[in-house]
Formats: sequence, structure tokens, C-alpha cells
Amino acid sequence: MRCFYYLITGMLAGCLFIATASAEPKDTLLNKQVKNFTLQDFRGKSVQLDDQREQKLVVIAFLGTECPLAKLYGGRLQKLADEFTSQGVAFYAIMSNQQDSLTEIAAYARKHEINFPVLKDAGNHIADQIGAKRTPEIFVLNQDRKICYHGRVDDQYGVGYLRDEPQREDLKIALTELLADKTVSQPSTKPVGCFIGRIREPDPDSKVTYSNQISRLFQKHCVECHREGEIAPFALNEYEEVAGWAETIAEVVRDQRMPPWHADPKHGKFANDRSLGKAEKELIYTWVENGAPQGDPQDLPKQQSYVTGWKLPQKPDAVFYMDDKPFNVPAQAGKRGVKYQYFTVDPGFTEDKWLKGAEALPGNRAVVHHILVFARPPQGKRVRVFGEGDQFLVGYVPGSREVMLPEGMAKKVPAGSKLVFQLHYTPIGVEQQDRSKVGLVFTDESKVTHQVVTAQVINEDFVRRRFSIDANNDNFKIEATSPPSDRDGVILSFMPHMHLRGKAFRYELRKTPDQPGETLINVPAFDFNWQTAYSVEKPIPIKNGEYIHCVAHYNNSDSNLSNPDPNKDVSWGDQTWNEMMIGYFNVAIPKETAEAENQFKTIAFKLVRRRDKNSNGKLERDEVPLRELPLFFQADQDKDSIVTVDELAAMIEKTRGKKTE
Ligand code: HEC
Repeated sequence: MRCFYYLITGMLAGCLFIATASAEPKDTLLNKQVKNFTLQDFRGKSVQLDDQREQKLVVIAFLGTECPLAKLYGGRLQKLADEFTSQGVAFYAIMSNQQDSLTEIAAYARKHEINFPVLKDAGNHIADQIGAKRTPEIFVLNQDRKICYHGRVDDQYGVGYLRDEPQREDLKIALTELLADKTVSQPSTKPVGCFIGRIREPDPDSKVTYSNQISRLFQKHCVECHREGEIAPFALNEYEEVAGWAETIAEVVRDQRMPPWHADPKHGKFANDRSLGKAEKELIYTWVENGAPQGDPQDLPKQQSYVTGWKLPQKPDAVFYMDDKPFNVPAQAGKRGVKYQYFTVDPGFTEDKWLKGAEALPGNRAVVHHILVFARPPQGKRVRVFGEGDQFLVGYVPGSREVMLPEGMAKKVPAGSKLVFQLHYTPIGVEQQDRSKVGLVFTDESKVTHQVVTAQVINEDFVRRRFSIDANNDNFKIEATSPPSDRDGVILSFMPHMHLRGKAFRYELRKTPDQPGETLINVPAFDFNWQTAYSVEKPIPIKNGEYIHCVAHYNNSDSNLSNPDPNKDVSWGDQTWNEMMIGYFNVAIPKETAEAENQFKTIAFKLVRRRDKNSNGKLERDEVPLRELPLFFQADQDKDSIVTVDELAAMIEKTRGKKTE
């Protein structure tokens, strides 16, 4: 029998809870009375809770200026204030982080156009009094100023996921119910976000301090992104800032959310491996447990110097904007987010260009989720096969950015190519503009020993929508094999690409298309938000005739919180609500062999694969339709009634050769 506890806390208060006996621990903050407080807003004006004595309800939102989730909810809270203020609901934002300065708080309020009081809680006393732990964390107080709702705003954004729209608008529902004198159907939800950066008393005897060890560790693993002007929301190279983040840092390190790195250490070694070792993690935990002590600033390492703007080691030779005018990013996404935007630019290349480095730079980081830049050869057309059609040049994607190729290596961009920009925007609640660009570094052809090609492994049946990923399947597998490499080369990097249902991705090197081979890289916990390019420490040889095989897994069930709709079969498409499966990899080929046009083997491979019913990589007679039999016999040089890829390639080469003679 199910048992209900009715906790009736005074009829007049209008704050009724029905708590069901469940595994969730009881929310002890519910029904607690909040005493009057006085705080200053960012302009220095004193504000009290009692100022709003007349209002039926009060919403208190604990926020922080830099926490990604607190940033996403600023605009949303203002919208709720617009809707509910006239109905007798007062709103307050309280900023309790020790690391948030008044200037930062003012900038936050301005950026999110917040017109209710935004208050600085110096010394985090009010957070202590109320019992708030995170940002954003919401408290709704009734007329007696007792807590009637506690938790999140809604469930649209969470740690590691971002839905196009909320499934439950918890705060709005609670306010509506309270205003109608109803019981709050769900008075307690779990707040997600960053810990409030509280003032602590550091242990004076701690052996681990910021100045001696932690600063060095952060320089090595975090500051690349966590510094002024970079992709992370706050800097981790100054004690005052770092100390406020201490508890959140311990949490993200423990959960392996930071530093972002998703490759399995069992396979391959990577030059850009950012992961922390066990001992390094222990250092962080000890430091946080000891109250994040500063130590002696004399021990600090030298600050690293960085160039601002371009991260490329030299000024780009040419810069191209995506368009003459900025793109207007709407305040709110529609039901399915903002569609990918494509811009095509003619860089005016009258001769072949050899590209040594490239970097895509967003115009407005607040809204640019990713940029991909492709070179579209003059023959145009988007053919998605090995080495033809659009060539991927560079991306700005969380996790990977500028690309500088090793000495002597370059990508060839044929004369007459266009640059194609693909932009993905994520709205922030206030209308924004963006004009992103790409910077290119060229080299002289005479200096190039190896041509670099971004190859892609795809499953053609998936691309042609012959099958889709089943609804409600949490482990749907798609495999794909490349055509055989038609020359010797070396692999420089991997970049697995999937969308929101992507779960895991693995690359294998195979000697034959159907025999398992060595795993080169395994990404067991793929995260759409981090499209990392994994650069190998030592180039991996791939020989003429070898294959790259990719295995991808998708979670299209509701256990994947990023899933826009678990009840839908999902097919190929470039919007985030469609899926993709591309095993990108960069391969370097000696220039002499790269220039020898040799597409015949690739063509032969594709012809064989399309007919190869038993998947043994060869064609038998019964796999070939009647009308093709004459060609089959012509190709079968050794007359063993089997046509191999090599035999077919030789025949195509001969017949093509004749045509051009
Ligand atoms: C490759 C870039 C990169 C590196 C390296 C990196 N971070 Fe981050 N970090 C980010 C970005 C981007 C965000 C914001 C994520 C978001 O918007 O959800 C972030 C967010 C955070 C947050 C806020 C909490 C959260 O979940 O968003 C903390 C704390 C953090 N990082 C700590 C660290 C620490 C500690 C390190 C090093 C040990 C580190 N990061 C290394 C890019 C990076």
C-alpha cells in the first residue's frame, strides 16, 4: 500500500505539501521561515526582504556571474518576473560567490537585462541563513516568508545537456499553483549548477597550496581554456578567482567533466591528452579539503604568456569573414533550436594554395556553439566520399580549435575553391549578433613533402537513409568501413563526429574489410558538446590496401538527457536533431604519390561493396546481375570466377585509359 504524509502547515499560509514516501531524501529546507535581510545591490543601494512586505510571494534566486547554468537562466528569470510581478510576486537575485565582484555583477545584470534587485551577499551570510548551496538555486517564499518551493527553474539545461525546450517548468508551475491557493505539486526539485564560492578558513598547515602545486597543475591542464578571452567562462590563473571555484572544481574533476577528455587511455597515445593523473586529482581534492589555501605567493610559477585573438603561432596570411554583415541570433530558439546557418565565401584563389594552418574565430562567443569551415572545390557538389568534394579545413568547436600541421605538411586547396562556413548558434535569452571569421596560413609548394587529406569514414546506407536509428534504443550500433587506402600514408589525428544521440565511437585499422583489427582510438563516453580532435603522439602508418573501420553507438532512449525526442526514429541529416556518423581522420601522404591520380581502387571498392551480399570483400558470380556478367568475365583475369577489388580497379583503369587516349 502506498502511504501519503499530509504535512499541512497552516491553512492561511497556503503552503501545502504532499510528500510521498520515496527514495529521495526529504528536503529539510521546505517550510523554513526566512528572516528579513538587508543587502546592497550592485549600485550600492540598500535593499531589504521586507521592502516587498505587500507581495504575496517572493522568489529568491541564488545566481553567479560565471557559472554556465546561472548564465543560461538569467534571462529566463527576468521573463518570469515580467509575467508574475503584476500578480503579486517579487523577485530577488542574490550573488553569494566570493569571487564575483560588483563590476561583474553589474555586467551580468545588464547583459541579461534584469530589472529586479541583484544583490551582493558579501561573506555569503544570506546563503548560509537560507541554506543555499548552488547557482542557480531557487526559493519561493509564501506570505509568511516560509519556503514553499525549492530547486531549479526548469529542466531545460543541466550538467552536460541542453534541451531545445523544458519538459517541466517547475518554478512557473509552483508560482501558478501558489497564486491559485493550490498545493505545490512538486515543491522540491534538485538544483543543478555550480557550488556557491563560500568564504572558507584555509588550513594554515596544508602542504598543498595554490602557490606551490595547484597553480602549476592548472597551468598544465586548465588555463589553455580558463583565461581571459578564451572559451571557458572564468579564468583559473589567479588565486582570488580560483579559491571561489574550489568546491566546484573538486566536483567536476571527480565527475570527470573537467578537463574535457573522452578517449579511453587503453588505446593510443595523444599529444593533446589533457586528462589528469590519479596523483594530480588527489592533489586537487586535498587542496579543496584544506580550504583552498593560497600559500606563499613567492612560490608562484611565472604566468604563461598568450597571444590574444588568434591562437595560431603566427599572424594569418589571409582572413575571411563568413559574410559582409553580421547574422542576427534570436533571443530564444524555436522549438528545434536555431537551424544551422551556411555561408559561402569566394576567397578568390587563382592558383592552388597549400594550407599549413587555419583557425576559425567566433565573432560572439556567447552564442557561437560551433563553426566548421570547408573548402569546396571548383567542380562543386558535396560528394561525401574519401578525398573528394568538400574538404574539411578547420573547426571552432569546444575542445578543438586551431590547426597547425607539422613541418612539411599541408592541405591543398585547389584554385577556384570556395570557403563554406557552417555555424551553429545557441541563443542566450537576449538577441545577439555574430560575424565569425577564419584565418589561413599558407606555405610554398616547394616546402611541402606531404599532402594532408581529411578523410571520412561513413556508412553509405545510413547517409542514403536506407535505415534509421530506432526510437527508444539505448545502444544502437552503426559500423562503417573506408575504401582501401590507395597508397601508403600516416594518420595524424581522429575526430569522431555524431550528434546528440552519440554515445561511443571507435576506430580500427583493418587489413581486410571484414576481419577485426587493432583499435587505434576508443571514445567510450562521446559528448556532443566536445567534438575533440585527437592528435596522435606518433603518426600511425596506414599502408596501401588497408582500411579504417569505425564503430559508433547511439543512445536514442530517454536515459540520454540530451535526447530531443526518444520516441522518434532518427535518420541522417546535418541538423542536431538528425544524426550523423563520420569518422574523420587526417592522413598525410607523400606528395609524389598524392599527386598521382589514383581513384580507380576507390571506385572499384565501392562497386564491389554495393553488390557484395556475403560481405567477403569480393564478388562471386551470383552476386552480379545478369546484365553485368560480361563485365564480370572481362574483369576476372585469373578466371577463378571471383572478381577482387584489384581486378576490377585494373579493368576500370584500362577502359578509362582507352577513352582518354
Ligand atoms: C578545452 C578547454 C577546457 C579545459 C582544458 C578545461 N576547461 Fe573547464 N570549462 C571549459 C568550458 C568551455 C566550460 C563551460 C562549460 C559550459 O558552458 O557548460 C568549463 C567549465 C568549468 C567549470 C564550471 C562548472 C561546469 O560544469 O561548467 C569548472 C569548475 C571548470 N571548468 C574547471 C576546470 C578545471 C579545474 C580544469 C583543469 C583541471 C578545466 N576546467 C579545464 C573549458 C575547459
